[in-house]
Amino acid sequence: MSNYLVTGGTSGVGRASAKALVASGHHVIVVGRNQQRGEQVAQELGIPFFSADLSTGAGVDAVLDYVVTSFDKLDGLLNNAGMFPRKRRVTSEGVELTFATNVLSYFRLTKGLLPLLRKAKQPRIVDVASSMIGDYEFSDLQFESRKWNSISAYKQSKQCNRMLAWAWARKLQHVTINAVHPGMVATNIQNNQGFPLRQVMRVWWKLKGISAEEGAITPVWALTNESLANTTGKMFARQKERSRPHDHMEKCDELWDYCEGLDASSRECYQEL
Ligand SMILES: NC(=O)c1ccc[n+]([C@@H]2O[C@H](COP(=O)([O-])OP(=O)(O)OC[C@H]3O[C@@H](n4cnc5c(N)ncnc54)[C@H](OP(=O)(O)O)[C@@H]3O)[C@@H](O)[C@H]2O)c1
Repeated sequence: MSNYLVTGGTSGVGRASAKALVASGHHVIVVGRNQQRGEQVAQELGIPFFSADLSTGAGVDAVLDYVVTSFDKLDGLLNNAGMFPRKRRVTSEGVELTFATNVLSYFRLTKGLLPLLRKAKQPRIVDVASSMIGDYEFSDLQFESRKWNSISAYKQSKQCNRMLAWAWARKLQHVTINAVHPGMVATNIQNNQGFPLRQVMRVWWKLKGISAEEGAITPVWALTNESLANTTGKMFARQKERSRPHDHMEKCDELWDYCEGLDASSRECYQEL
């Protein structure tokens, strides 16, 4: 029996992934913000829910505290929490919200949980990325000079997920890290959008999308399948390895350094690499 942390476990891909892990007999903690949905998941699956806003260092630190007191080792981290805001907003730390939630939270949790992951026999990190990538601009990752739009900010954040997974994979010994695309999944992610994008996405997903349970298949497979125990730095979709665009080593490292700079406020005790 293994221990897993699933971020964004109150809805969609994360919730279905947590359910699949619990069905296989594993211990799972889910993290999200929505108290009501979190309590429902906790009740339904018989697992702990921890409420935290992962877009800030304080929220991530609260999760780290909770996890280190709940588990003596961590076998897997599913970095899955993600959002698609309608308007440009910045967090209380002054970081653009899409980047803070979709990218920096993955970085902070990965870094902060390394000591606990290292205590497991074959620890794995899986970053839920996307096939929707692009509009990456290192000189303006937070859209301070460029005009912000929700699709560009989201695509960039999902490209960053891959790039950081490649950067981490080169740095980490013993802990593997891979990125996955879950498929086009009918979830709540478009709910922050206004008309007409929200309606268009809903209809499109109804026609073409897969269920959250189907969307969870590749993330859970990447976290648990025995054949992938030593596989790191890969991109998967539909349980198959995909090519790795944007894996230019120096660019990935540059992004890693940028996140490390933003994470300077995090507590030292979690900063061992
Ligand atoms: N749906 C797709 O077609 C698709 C395709 C490719 C990739 N993805 C990726 O899959 C992941 C899951 O998305 P989904 O489609 O399942 O969307 P979803 O149903 O909206 O779920 C998103 C989850 O992230 C959590 N979350 C968002 N912001 C958070 C924050 N600041 N702090 C803590 N938790 C936060 C939400 O929890 P609360 O609401 O409780 O805060 C929710 O549990 C995302 O990374 C997304 O980019 C989705």
